[in-house]
Amino acid sequence: MAYETLQVRTEAGQVGIVTLHRPKQLNALNDQLMDELGAALKAFDADDAIGCIVVTGSEKAFAAGADISAMAKYEFADVYGRDFISRNWEAIRSIRKPVIAAVSGFALGGGCELAMMCDFIIAAENAKFGQPEIKIGIIPGAGGTQRLPRAVGKSKAMDMVLTSRMMDAQEAERAGLVSRVVPLDKLMEETLGAALAICQMPRLAAMAAKESVNRAFEGALSDGVQFERRLFHAMFATADQKEGMDAFLAKRTPAFGHR
Ligand code: HXC
Repeated sequence: MAYETLQVRTEAGQVGIVTLHRPKQLNALNDQLMDELGAALKAFDADDAIGCIVVTGSEKAFAAGADISAMAKYEFADVYGRDFISRNWEAIRSIRKPVIAAVSGFALGGGCELAMMCDFIIAAENAKFGQPEIKIGIIPGAGGTQRLPRAVGKSKAMDMVLTSRMMDAQEAERAGLVSRVVPLDKLMEETLGAALAICQMPRLAAMAAKESVNRAFEGALSDGVQFERRLFHAMFATADQKEGMDAFLAKRTPAFGHR
């Protein structure tokens, strides 16, 4: 299948590699990209030759978030009525083979959430993680308010979600958000090393181990994500969502009316 927003290849015939590729938009995640990502991951999951999947971006950005230019005009009816996010992002959770996120540069908003939906994160030294949605009048909507506190604890998660502060790679490793930090020029080599190590393991055990760790991690996560999704949708009924996104696109400071 040909993709417009992804580059897809295999390594050593065993590792499926998906590179997010909307360079001009810092890999902002629009519906087309998320549709294609779901299709690419499912294709690798169904391919018996593949034992592990890697999702990565560019040096500058893993992904700078959901596409603000696409979201800016959405109303509550658009997001709730069409189940924005759930309709294509949740495909990632159905992948049964291990998925590693190899993150360099910005992983913000939906980009951070996408990385956290993978099974573990290997970060380059220049990686920056953040949930800055509040600055544009919304909240995280793809599990950020649920997975981030589970990964880094309540205090750091609240700090990031409420102040929009970014976390660098070293802090992310200390906090447990990422499994390892490596030099930027070694990111793919290290990630492929981990992926190939997984490919050498018995496939069914790897799938079972993933399923079991996720069970420990998730608990009532789906309830939390569903709750978050409805609040996220509700943000599109506020004037500050329009103002925040319009201001971003016009490159001006937002004037929030708190309504
Ligand atoms: C659409 C985006 C974008 C985004 C960047 N761009 N992020 N377009 N959606 N999320 C575009 C810019 O508009 C710009 O386009 C180009 O990418 C390069 O970005 P710059 O801002 O010029 O780069 P830089 O100065 O290096 O700043 C990088 C940055 C900044 C700090 C990452 O781009 C930024 O703050 N982006 C927004 C981050 C954000 O708020 N993410 C959360 C989104 S909401 P032009 O055309 O001007 O060259 C979200 C909701 C999740 O993710 C809910 C569920 C998934």
